[in-house]
Amino acid sequence: MKVMIWGTGKYCDMLMMEALWKDGIEITGFCESKRRGGENYKKEYRGTLLNVYSLEDLNDSLYDVIFLAHSYYEDVDTLAEQYKIEKDKIIIPYTTGKEKSKLEVINRVVNYIGNAEEVVSLLSLEPHMGDIMLPSGHDILDYSLLYDRELVKEEGYYFLKGDYARVRTLELCIKEIRRKNLQGAVAEVGVFDGSFAQVLAHYFPEKELYLYDTFEGFPECDSKNEIENRSVSVTLDKILKNVNLEKVKKRIGNYGKCHYRVGYFPGTVEKSDKEEKYCLVSLDADLYAPMYAGLEFFYPRLEEGGYIFVHEYNGNFLLEGEVLSFSGVKKALNDFESNYGHVCYVPISDRNGSLIITK
Ligand SMILES: C[S@@+](CC[C@H](N)C(=O)[O-])C[C@H]1O[C@@H](n2cnc3c(N)ncnc32)[C@H](O)[C@@H]1O
Repeated sequence: MKVMIWGTGKYCDMLMMEALWKDGIEITGFCESKRRGGENYKKEYRGTLLNVYSLEDLNDSLYDVIFLAHSYYEDVDTLAEQYKIEKDKIIIPYTTGKEKSKLEVINRVVNYIGNAEEVVSLLSLEPHMGDIMLPSGHDILDYSLLYDRELVKEEGYYFLKGDYARVRTLELCIKEIRRKNLQGAVAEVGVFDGSFAQVLAHYFPEKELYLYDTFEGFPECDSKNEIENRSVSVTLDKILKNVNLEKVKKRIGNYGKCHYRVGYFPGTVEKSDKEEKYCLVSLDADLYAPMYAGLEFFYPRLEEGGYIFVHEYNGNFLLEGEVLSFSGVKKALNDFESNYGHVCYVPISDRNGSLIITK
């Protein structure tokens, strides 16, 4: 399906960041009612420069649907009539801020396209990870950031699906990486079911993406050590076993140039991985040994201006009534600093207490 994006400004950038386009969707270009950049104006979409058309230049061969990516909703009908664009080909994929529920948005969209399932399947705006709670009086600084994420008022709390802080911080770091045009590959140690790797792959389809995991849960030797050192509770051997590499591959799909390194990290590091520099790394293996090995391997290979996300640094959560924390992660970074010197980092307030290292 050919998709044209109407708008090239802030909303457009949001849409580019937010939407996980499914396979079979081809973004054919951008359009504007008034083309600001002149006839040869082009806009980058995931590493490729695409034409920015004016509405009057559009013809049926260029699109099957047009996604609205600006906020001048009131003018859409008039412009569609003026430029003979079929209104039912125009999709407004996010809230205008006035709707009370996602259903209302979908209903409005359905009025345009006439098929709710198609609309919903085009977009996967569902957040990727768990839920977070915001107090209802919370000043959501930039509501526009939340767009189509489900905000349901529940017992005095807005229930916001997704680890908003983690994903949004990642998005902002990615913007910086793009702004600085950083080279280098992307990697994750500790992939589990691929929910975070999927986001990495989505944002960096042009980069090599190295994914390290046993894909069968924590290695016994490390989890035994960890339990003996009391840096985690015994729950370890019960969790994260239920994972299937084929399903992970399917979930990540054809985004990104993925290299699956299956088995015990760092034993699975290949020669080509050693020759890379990295602009973004997610270290999410929870235990001391792989986290220390991850720092040792990736920190020297981190591009200046790049980021290493260290998950669980301040993590602490309840699992089946037990407090589960991964103090081995903090120890890994402390030991790394003792052995190799000072590292620059910022802890963030996402659900599992990530910390972000930069150079
Ligand atoms: C918390 S999960 C990763 C979650 C994932 N990053 C996400 O955000 O959805 C931790 C993973 O680390 C993996 N892991 C831990 N130690 C490892 C090692 N030494 N080698 C390979 N994988 C390891 C486990 O198999 C598990 O899947």
